[in-house]
Amino acid sequence: MESVNEIRSRFPQLSEKVYGKPLVYLDNAATALRPLSVVKKWEEMSLVHNANVFRAVYRTSVEATEAFEAAREAVARHINAADSAEIVFTSGDTAAINLVAGSFGEEFIKEGDEIIVSEAEHHSNLVPWQILCRRKGAKLVKLPVADDGTLRTDLLPGLLTPAAKLLCVADISNVLGIINPVKEIVRICHAADCAVLVDGAQGIVHSRPDVQELDCDFYTFSGHKVYAATGTGVLYAKRKWLDAMPPYMAGGEMIDTVSWESSTYAKAPHKFEAGTPNVAAVPTLVPALEIAEEMSAPEFSANSLAIKEYILESLSSVEGLQLFGNPADAGDKINLFSFVVRGAHHEDLALLMDKMGVALRSGQMCAEPLMGRFGVTGMLRASFAPYNTMQEAEYFIESLQRALRMLR
Ligand SMILES: Cc1ncc(COP(=O)(O)O)c(C=O)c1O
Repeated sequence: MESVNEIRSRFPQLSEKVYGKPLVYLDNAATALRPLSVVKKWEEMSLVHNANVFRAVYRTSVEATEAFEAAREAVARHINAADSAEIVFTSGDTAAINLVAGSFGEEFIKEGDEIIVSEAEHHSNLVPWQILCRRKGAKLVKLPVADDGTLRTDLLPGLLTPAAKLLCVADISNVLGIINPVKEIVRICHAADCAVLVDGAQGIVHSRPDVQELDCDFYTFSGHKVYAATGTGVLYAKRKWLDAMPPYMAGGEMIDTVSWESSTYAKAPHKFEAGTPNVAAVPTLVPALEIAEEMSAPEFSANSLAIKEYILESLSSVEGLQLFGNPADAGDKINLFSFVVRGAHHEDLALLMDKMGVALRSGQMCAEPLMGRFGVTGMLRASFAPYNTMQEAEYFIESLQRALRMLR
C-alpha cells in the first residue's frame, strides 16, 4: 500500500507515541488528523497574509481576501455547487445547522408546521430543531431507525403531511456508519414540497457529495473532520433560499447600507457572514480538500475495503459483542464500528485500550436518543480514516481482545 504509506508521512501525528506505544488513532469521526499542507497554509495565512478580509484596499488585505475567496471556490467545486455564492462560511457544522434553524426557521416555519428529523441524528442536527419547534409552535416528527440501523424510509410518505416543511438527515451516521439514501429521500420530500437539510459532517469525508445531483436544499459540514483547521464550517444552500432567508447574525460586512433607523443587507453569502471570519483557518480548506481528493484514489478504497472485511469478520467472532449499524450490504457502511460487549463497560474498554495506544470514542457520541433506541447507555466506537492501515486494524482487534481478557 505504497500510497497509504506515503500519505501517512504527511500526517505527522501518525508518528506520535502515547504511553510509549505508537498512536493508533481511530477517532477520526470526531476529528481528523491534520496534514502538513494544512498547517503550512494556516502558518502562511498567519505570518504572511494576516489582515482583515473584504474591508481594505491595501495589498495584504487583498491577499487575505483572495485566499479566503479561493477557499469558497474550492468548496463549491468539491461539492459541485452551481455557484460559489451558495457557500457560506461558518465556524463549523453545528453553527451552519443553527444558521438554517435560526434564519430559514424564522422565515419559513410557523405554528403547526412539522420538521422531520431522523432518529439517528447527532445532537447538532436535533437540538436546534427542538428549539425552533418550541419557539414557533411547530412539531418535531421522528423518522425512525430500523434494528439494523438503516432509516425507515418506507414510512416517509406517511410522515410527509402538508404540514411538513423541512426534513433533516445526515448522509452518513456518526454512530452507525450507515450511508443513508439521501438522494432518494430528497426526491420523495420534494415531491411533497418539503425541503431537505443534509448534515454532511461524515459524508464530506467518506463520499464526494454532489449537491446538484442530490438536489438537497442545504448541505453542512465542518472543516476539522475533513483535515482542515478547526473553527471552519460550511453551509451550502440553494441560492433561492439564501436570497429569501433573513440574516442570522448582524454586524460588519453583512450590510449594504446602514442608516440610524434601519439597514439593508448584502447579497449572499456575505449577508450570512457578519463580523471578522476565521481568516487564517478558512483557506486551509483548500489543501484539506486536495488531500481528501487524493485519498479517494482506488488504492485507498481497496485498503479501506480490506480493513472493513477484516474488522467485520473479527468483531463477529468476539463473544457477546453487539455491533450497531449492520446493514445487509456492507457496502452501505463506512469504516465506522460502534459496539458494546457483554460484561465489559465501554468506558473501561476505552481506558484500557488507550493505555495500549488506541484512541477510541466511548459514550453517547452526541446521539443520546439513538442510545435509547438501542437500549444502551453508551457504545465504543472505532472510526477509520483512509490513512489507517491494516496493521493498525489488526492491533485494534488484538488490543480489544486483550482488554476483554482483563475485564471478563
Ligand atoms: C453527523 C454529525 N453531525 C454534526 C456534528 C457536529 O460537528 P461539529 O462539532 O464539528 O460542529 C458531528 C460531529 O461529530 C457529526 O458527526
